[in-house]
Amino acid sequence: MTVRIAVIGGTGVYNPEMLVDVREEKVSTPYGDVGLHVGGFQGRQVAFLARHGQQHSVPPHLVNYRANITALKKLGVKSVLATAAVGSLNLDMNPGDLVFCDQFLDFTKGRVQTFFEGGPDGVVHVDMTEPYCPELRALMTQAASNLNLPVHPVGTYVTTEGPRFETPAEIRMLRHLGGDLAGMTGVPEVVLAREAEICYATICMVTNFASGISPHRLTHEEVVEAMQVNAAKIRSLIAATVALIKPERDCLCHHAVGGPVNAGSGE
Ligand code: HPA
Repeated sequence: MTVRIAVIGGTGVYNPEMLVDVREEKVSTPYGDVGLHVGGFQGRQVAFLARHGQQHSVPPHLVNYRANITALKKLGVKSVLATAAVGSLNLDMNPGDLVFCDQFLDFTKGRVQTFFEGGPDGVVHVDMTEPYCPELRALMTQAASNLNLPVHPVGTYVTTEGPRFETPAEIRMLRHLGGDLAGMTGVPEVVLAREAEICYATICMVTNFASGISPHRLTHEEVVEAMQVNAAKIRSLIAATVALIKPERDCLCHHAVGGPVNAGSGE
């Protein structure tokens, strides 16, 4: 059976606990091999990929984002639900809150964020009006409402380069620019999913107030602990959302690129 749905687990979400008959798979891609799990969920096959590895051994700037998205594409995945631990810049978004981000700001430095590098691959300038699939986000909102889970249905996710946390001055700047949440992995994952014409949406879990807003210094342990406290909420939301995704759905995201501009043909 083809795998149409995948979950990318971020910090604190390392196991495919909702799946049954789980098997490990290694998918080879031009960017490297990817280890992931595939299992059953309500009669369909769902892939689970731990973004940082199951032991959280891969830092955000070294995640092989292109390999991960290519592996999911190779399996036949059309819809990805990702999880992300985030710091909040917005006083209305508290630790423990869930946010379905609808926009991002990119403050990464030097990460490759395209599959199209000219030459035989051509050149692509993919549209980013709706970087996160509006249909998946609507299903997430519906699932949350079915579960009586309060959520923030929109928010702007700022991707910082990491692996360090931000300075208070950076957080002040990012707030001024309209950021609500800070995380270290959103870009390029969302961009590459879009280039791969895969629907992609992120469930953000606020684990802390960002640096300078938080009354204390930040630690990775604090983030992991907050994720553990809220893991059940995230798991049930993922399961309820996957249950709402129609296996053979079509979406504008599946046509986001529509064929690359040939290299050398100019703008
Ligand atoms: N900043 C960046 N990434 C994060 C944070 C943060 O405060 N919390 C969890 N991931």
